[in-house]
Amino acid sequence: MGMNWDELEKQCKECQKCKLCETRHNVVFGVGNRSADIMFIGEGPGENEDLQGEPFVGRAGKYLDKLLAAVDFSREKDIYIANMVKCRPPQNRDPLPEEQDACIGWLNTQISLIQPKIIVCLGRIAAMRLIKPDIKITKEHGIFFDKNGIKMVAMLHPAALLRNPASKPAAFEDMLKLRQVYDELTNG
Ligand code: URA
Repeated sequence: MGMNWDELEKQCKECQKCKLCETRHNVVFGVGNRSADIMFIGEGPGENEDLQGEPFVGRAGKYLDKLLAAVDFSREKDIYIANMVKCRPPQNRDPLPEEQDACIGWLNTQISLIQPKIIVCLGRIAAMRLIKPDIKITKEHGIFFDKNGIKMVAMLHPAALLRNPASKPAAFEDMLKLRQVYDELTNG
């Protein structure tokens, strides 16, 4: 492979591997610290993300920033954020398996360039694809799995937390656990 970030971003932004390229305004490549120990992976861009070309900039993104700030993480400094698919699925439907298949190579290259110690899957779509296909996110969020030397954890999607505020304390617990696992990995 041997691809660098500039090449990767340029090629990704020209991608036409699936039909989502026909309706996108922007490819949402990813943002954050390219040397971060923690990578967050969401589902796919929504309307605001599609218009601005950045992941998690809408309401759900603002809530994610709040959860991160609560455990003293910032998106610029401590993490890198990307999505399973880089282009918005129309009407925010779930990305189709063939769209995820077409897009996964970009994400895999991002992961191999960053070499994160921890990957946080935000929501069911990322968790099923990256952790295990039969994951039950309502039961298994906050549990760390070891995969190829990377600690992988699913968290409830911030958009789901906004729809169901009763889950917010559980999401905060998961963030605290992430902070603890990160501190153990990096201080110890
Ligand atoms: N939801 C996601 O999964 N990703 C985004 O970038 C925005 C909302």
